[in-house]
Amino acid sequence: MHAITVRPETAEDIRAIDVVHISAFGGEAEAQLVSALRESATYNRELSLVAELNGRIVGHVLLTRVPLRKHGSEKQVLALGPMSVVPSQSHRGIGSELINASIKLAKEKGYGAIVVLGHPEYYKRFGFVQARDLQVSCNLPAPEDALTVMEIVDANLAGGGHVEYPEPFVALY
Ligand SMILES: CC(C)(COP(=O)(O)OP(=O)(O)OC[C@H]1O[C@@H](n2cnc3c(N)ncnc32)[C@H](O)[C@@H]1OP(=O)(O)O)[C@@H](O)C(=O)NCCC(=O)NCCS
Repeated sequence: MHAITVRPETAEDIRAIDVVHISAFGGEAEAQLVSALRESATYNRELSLVAELNGRIVGHVLLTRVPLRKHGSEKQVLALGPMSVVPSQSHRGIGSELINASIKLAKEKGYGAIVVLGHPEYYKRFGFVQARDLQVSCNLPAPEDALTVMEIVDANLAGGGHVEYPEPFVALY
C-alpha cells in the first residue's frame, strides 16, 4: 500500500486533472467547469488540490471562494467541488483524504465555512449538515437536499444566507 500525497495543483497537472474528472464523472462537463473556473477571477491555485499515488494524479478537488449574502451583508466562504477520484482507485479513502485536506486548508486560510453541492450522505460523514437546517441556500437549481455545509468557525453560518456560485457553475446547471 503506497501513501497518498495531497498537494496544490501545478501547471503540469492540468491534463491529468481533466482525465480524472472525465473518467470519474463519465463526461466532460466537470472537467470543462474546472477549466472555466481556472480562467476566472475567483481561481486560486492554492485551493485546487490533487491526490497523487506513485507519482500519478488519481484525484482532484477544487475549492472556490464564493460570497454568502445575508440582509445586505456579505462574507466569503469556500465551495467544495467538483471532486473526483479515478474509478480504479475509488473506495480506498482517497476522496476522504481530499475532503480532510480541504477542511484543513479552509482552517489555515481563515475561512469560516465550506458549502458543497453533491451526495449529502457522502459529505455527512465528515460533519457536513443539510444547508437548509442552517437556513443556507444557493443560486443553483439543484435539489435542496444536495446542498450541505460545514462551519469551520463555530456559528459562522448563524442566521443563514444565500451562496452565489459564480457563472461557470451556473452554466453547468
Ligand atoms: C465520490 C468520490 C469522490 C468518492 O471517492 P473515494 O475515494 O471512493 O472516497 P472514499 O474511499 O473516501 O469513500 C468511499 C465511500 O464513499 C461512499 N460513496 C461513494 N460515492 C457515493 C455516493 N455517490 N453517495 C454516497 N456515498 C458515496 C461509499 O459509501 C464509499 O464507502 P465504501 O468504500 O465503504 O463503500 C468518487 O467515488 C468519485 O469520484 N465519484 C464520481 C464523481 C462524483 O460523484 N464526485 C462527487 C460529486 S459530489
